[in-house]
Amino acid sequence: MINGSTQLFGIIGNPVEHSLSPAMHNAAFAALGLNGVYIPMRPSDLADGFRGLRSLGFSGVSVTVPYKVAIMDFLDEIDPVAHKIGAVNTLFFQRKGAGESFCKGFNTDWLGSNQALAEEIELKGSTVLIIGAGGAARAVGFGLLEAGAKILITNRTEAKGRELADQLNCTFIPVHEVSQVRADVLINTTSVGMAPHHDALPIRPELLVQFSVVMDIVYAPLETRLLQEAAARGCRTIDGLKMLQHQGAAQFALWTGREGPLAIMRNALLTELQSR
Ligand code: ATR
Repeated sequence: MINGSTQLFGIIGNPVEHSLSPAMHNAAFAALGLNGVYIPMRPSDLADGFRGLRSLGFSGVSVTVPYKVAIMDFLDEIDPVAHKIGAVNTLFFQRKGAGESFCKGFNTDWLGSNQALAEEIELKGSTVLIIGAGGAARAVGFGLLEAGAKILITNRTEAKGRELADQLNCTFIPVHEVSQVRADVLINTTSVGMAPHHDALPIRPELLVQFSVVMDIVYAPLETRLLQEAAARGCRTIDGLKMLQHQGAAQFALWTGREGPLAIMRNALLTELQSR
C-alpha cells in the first residue's frame, strides 16, 4: 500500500512507456515486502526533471535513452567504471539531514552482462568477441575488462569499431576476418535479430562453432535466431533478459541493501513481455 513512508523510485527516458523496469522492480518490492514504488517518467526537460527528483525525495532512479550521457553533468559523484564507460544508468540519492540530497551515478549494465556471463563461464582469462560498437558494446566491453577477460571487437562500420577498440585497448576484427577468430564467448550488442526482423543474424551461422558461449542482448524475441543457431551447434546460450534482470538486481541491491530476487524479477519481465 502506498502511504507516507513509501520510498520513491523510477526510470527517466524518452520514450519510457515501453520500459520493462517498472514491472521488474515493483515485483521485487512486493516479493520482499518493501514499501517502495517504481514509476516511469518522461521529463520535458532533463535539468528540470533532475531537480524535481532531488526535491521530491526520490531514493533511486534508472536512466535510459537518451539521457545516459547527459545526466552525468548533474551528478555530485560518478562511480569510476561508469565514468570510464561514459554513461550512467542508475542514480542513488542520499538525504543529508534536512538539506538537498547527494546524488551518485552508477552504471549497472556492465554488472548485468558480467553476471549473466558468469552463470556460464569464468570470465577471467576468457576471450570474448563483441559484435557492435555502440553504447551497449561500450558498457559490456569495459565490464569485461573489469572482469579480466580478453576482448575482440567487430563492427559493420569499421571506423566506429576501431575507435571503441582503441578505447578498450583491444583488437578490432574486420567483418570479413571473423572466420579466423577462435574465442570462448560471442556477444551480440547490436539490435540485429530484434522483432520484427526475427530472421536477421549478426554473424554467419556456420561461424558459431568457434564459440562455447553465445549471448544476445536482444530479448524480443527471447530466443533470437542467433541463439537458436548457436544452440543447434552445441553452444551454451544466454538470452537478453539475463543482462536486464542482473542489471536490475544490481540496482535493487544498491538502492535497498537487499539482494534482488532474481527469479521473481525474471518472471515479472517475462510476464510483461508476453502481455505485449
Ligand atoms: P546502442 O547504444 O543501443 O548500442 P547504437 O549506439 O546505435 O546503439 O549502436 C548500434 C550498434 O549496432 C552499432 O555497432 C551498429 O553498427 P554501425 O556502427 O555499423 O552502425 C550496430 N548495428 C545496428 N544495426 C545493424 C545492422 N543491421 N547490421 C550490423 N550492425 C548493426
